[in-house]
Amino acid sequence: MTIKLTWYGHAAMLVEVGGAKLLVDPFFTGNPAAAISAEAAQADYILISHGHGDHVGDAVAIAKRTGATVIANFEICNWFNMQGVAKTHPQHLGGGFTYPFGYLKLTLALHGSALPDGSYGGNPCGFLLTAEAKKVYLACDTGLFGDMRLIGEEGLDLAVLPIGDNFTMGPADARRAAKLLQAKHIVPVHYNTWDLIAQDGQAWGAQVAAEAGAQVHVLKAGEAFSL
Ligand code: NI
Ligand code: MN
Repeated sequence: MTIKLTWYGHAAMLVEVGGAKLLVDPFFTGNPAAAISAEAAQADYILISHGHGDHVGDAVAIAKRTGATVIANFEICNWFNMQGVAKTHPQHLGGGFTYPFGYLKLTLALHGSALPDGSYGGNPCGFLLTAEAKKVYLACDTGLFGDMRLIGEEGLDLAVLPIGDNFTMGPADARRAAKLLQAKHIVPVHYNTWDLIAQDGQAWGAQVAAEAGAQVHVLKAGEAFSL
């Protein structure tokens, strides 16, 4: 059994696992790097890491169209309920739940989480998925933090890390994160969407491969990686 990750540009991605489609941070409308349109997005579950517009994106419309369950922190789930999205599953930092596709835990992230209308969005999170006897860590928007070492102790098969700088870890801190996490495979995201977060993914990948011994998969928007 495989876990397939498709990067749609910026922080939007699809994780296909156990017959389920997990759409993560589905920002398509207004995303210059988007590989697909909001109308083309498919989802059984929609994972929202924090309240910022480049992560909530088109999630309300996609949830209503697909009937997908939104998974996010308690505050963001409440906000989706108020937007008319009935199916939500609130969790919170450090808490996991066993879904049909696997065990999903919300992890720490150093970032903000205000929602697009200014509502309070609780604390931002990353996601740690345990499924198919594999572990996948989506750091989502975050700065570097030392407790990534604890997440790495879980034995990661794949880590998806932001490298764009300015709003999240930049290349140098993301390289330090790779050393703390010790994931076998790494995919960089949250870069090259705008000039402000332009980075050389290939050069970063070569450095990380040399320093952390990881296999780095520098995807183009729309490309997939199977684990
Ligand atoms: Ni953000
Ligand atoms: Mn962001």
